[in-house]
Amino acid sequence: MRNMKYLTIFLLVTSAVAVIAKDLPEFLHVCKRNDPNINECIKASVEHLRPYLVKGVPEYQIPSIEPLLLRELVAAEGGGLKLSAKDVNAYGASDFSVTKMNADMGTFTYLLDVFLPHLSIDGQYEIDGKVLLLPITGSGRLTGNFTDCLGAVKFTAETETMNGVEYFRVREFNLKITVGKGVLRLDNLFGGDKVIGDVVNNAINNNFDAFIKELMPIVERALGTAFRDIGQNIVNQFTYDQLFPLD
Ligand SMILES: *[C@@H]1O[C@H](CO)[C@@H](O)[C@H](O)[C@H]1NC(C)=O
Repeated sequence: MRNMKYLTIFLLVTSAVAVIAKDLPEFLHVCKRNDPNINECIKASVEHLRPYLVKGVPEYQIPSIEPLLLRELVAAEGGGLKLSAKDVNAYGASDFSVTKMNADMGTFTYLLDVFLPHLSIDGQYEIDGKVLLLPITGSGRLTGNFTDCLGAVKFTAETETMNGVEYFRVREFNLKITVGKGVLRLDNLFGGDKVIGDVVNNAINNNFDAFIKELMPIVERALGTAFRDIGQNIVNQFTYDQLFPLD
């Protein structure tokens, strides 16, 4: 009887511990806090995550980023045309490579550069404006390809103690993207009229830089929020000691 009581207490205590500190999953490649090569280590951790970002890990609330859905409406103007897009799926975001990592564990400031060789998008557009004095309004399918994109991420973090346990929290997350080359295509302009369709598509691609300049801040916010949420979700499930062990 007495032994039963101890056993019950023992089981309660061990199961409580198991709930608080999840075991480290396979997708998490942790770095020692004082690793002299912490930049290389974090870079490897981010790269190690890639296949898990492709498939997603539902048990840890990691969604698949292939494709990455940008639901929010984005709009841009250039060459007399106003273009807006929504429900855009982006493909290729998981194909990144981390080209630079600069981690400061003292101030919890992290700078990383990522290279995206190829991103393609597929979504819905609406267009309104004039090309060669011809009024253009329409909507349909939008596709596009972007090559040699550079992303610069800066995030800061802090630790927060809850019930005596220290956690690592992402505080600010900022993403800037530079697009190398890109091409957009709007299908079904004027019920699929090829001549006018080509004229409008050329007008857009000739003004590509102007469109991209306006679209990018919104795309950056959408992608930045997606990546911050994924990162936050992952780190929140482990303690600071688990993520960055002392030794
Ligand atoms: C994007 O690239 C794919 C594959 O190379 C190609 O099939 C597609 O036509 C391209 N789309 C545009 C809008 O150029």
